Amino acid sequence: MENEGLNGWIRDGLYYHPHLFGGVILTAALVGLSTSYFGGIKVPSLHYFGSEIFPKRRHARRRVRVYMDGCFDLMHYGHANALRQAKALGDELVVGVVSNEEIVANKGPPVLSMEERMALVSGLKWVDEVIPNAPYAITEDFMKLLFCEYKIDYIIHGDDPCLLPDGSDAYALAKKAGRYKQIKRTEGVSSTDIVGRILSYSKDTLENGNTNDSCINNVCQSQAESTHISQFLPTSRRIVQFSNGKSPAPNSRIVYIDGAFDLFHAGHVEILKKARELGDFLLVGIYSDQTVSEHRGRGHPIMHLHERSLSVLACRYVDEIIIGAPWAITKDMITTFNITLVVHGTIAERASRPGRSEADPYAVPKSMGIFQLLKSPKDMTTSIIAQRIAANHEAYIKRNAKKTESEKKYYAEKKYVVDE
Ligand SMILES: *[C@@H]1O[C@H](CO)[C@@H](O)[C@H](O)[C@H]1NC(C)=O
Ligand SMILES: *[C@@H]1O[C@H](CO)[C@@H](O)[C@H](O)[C@H]1NC(C)=O
Repeated sequence: MENEGLNGWIRDGLYYHPHLFGGVILTAALVGLSTSYFGGIKVPSLHYFGSEIFPKRRHARRRVRVYMDGCFDLMHYGHANALRQAKALGDELVVGVVSNEEIVANKGPPVLSMEERMALVSGLKWVDEVIPNAPYAITEDFMKLLFCEYKIDYIIHGDDPCLLPDGSDAYALAKKAGRYKQIKRTEGVSSTDIVGRILSYSKDTLENGNTNDSCINNVCQSQAESTHISQFLPTSRRIVQFSNGKSPAPNSRIVYIDGAFDLFHAGHVEILKKARELGDFLLVGIYSDQTVSEHRGRGHPIMHLHERSLSVLACRYVDEIIIGAPWAITKDMITTFNITLVVHGTIAERASRPGRSEADPYAVPKSMGIFQLLKSPKDMTTSIIAQRIAANHEAYIKRNAKKTESEKKYYAEKKYVVDE
């Protein structure tokens, strides 16, 4: 934690203003999306909120604003970690979300729409402002706009080379201007890898939502395992970096929501926001891999428990998670965590395999009168995203083959770099 730097808000939250987080939701009028070309969108900043109430001694110092861009197609904890590191290099983080057109031109078709990508990025706890339709390459004009209009001090990018189709460095201009800072790439995951995992399952399984166990078990699953072994090595340090480190204040209303949260998407962000608004503290139960596959078939989940946990922890509406929550909520859990309200979204993955009759996992909270069904703001599920990828099978296979080569090269030549 010490090397987080004084700007890391985790540290601020932990040591200086632990009680402020409860009020934050009041400022959370976000993901009200504007489509204006460069209209930045303010998202609530915990750090900023804290500083206004308790001005620091060094308050005369101008706040350092950093910019990072990305496609953020299929948001995963690697993106979240990059933005966390970027935020630590300044006080306010402005994120540019690359336009659909630019992604098509540089990488191939995106899986998520601009609006969905914006919702995901805005939902991250380290993000202060979002600029929609950012360009893929930082042109001179856009750099001027960033420096003059958005008052950006530094442009941040990972240490993996970002090349334009003509082979030139997308950040050359920012480097020349001396306003470039680099962060270390997050090991173990990439959108390419996730698309690969999804493509490894049979197209038919995904398109028909058919969770035929024998098929997935015999063919698709074994293929998935052989070609897409996750390189992710979960450490307790990473979890601490992502966590609020906060326990509920006395007399808090603790809201509980559970789920697989596989392929963390805009629908998840919105339901978590709604759930958080119903209380003072949001506890999220994340089903174990075994629980998910028992209920949704052997090809699921696509992201394993630790990957799913980090994605949920990175969300600004989440206060605490249970890593490997049970399918059915027990009386003991409700007592242990002093849960006031249990909620569940109306749009959820088809819960069970055909022909399987199940006991209601919410029977206990229902009998206690503390269960509430929440209308899901978005008609979006993990299967819908997986289906979009499967529907564009050919295009993604091409896009993936190219990336897979460069990934292989990266891992072959990789050296130790100090993590910060
Ligand atoms: C499930 O998969 C097996 C083997 O691939 C196949 O023989 C069977 O017909 C499938 N069942 C359904 C309901 O699709
Ligand atoms: C438990 O939650 C209730 C609200 O449901 C709250 O009034 C009570 O103070 C909480 N208990 C503790 C010890 O915080």
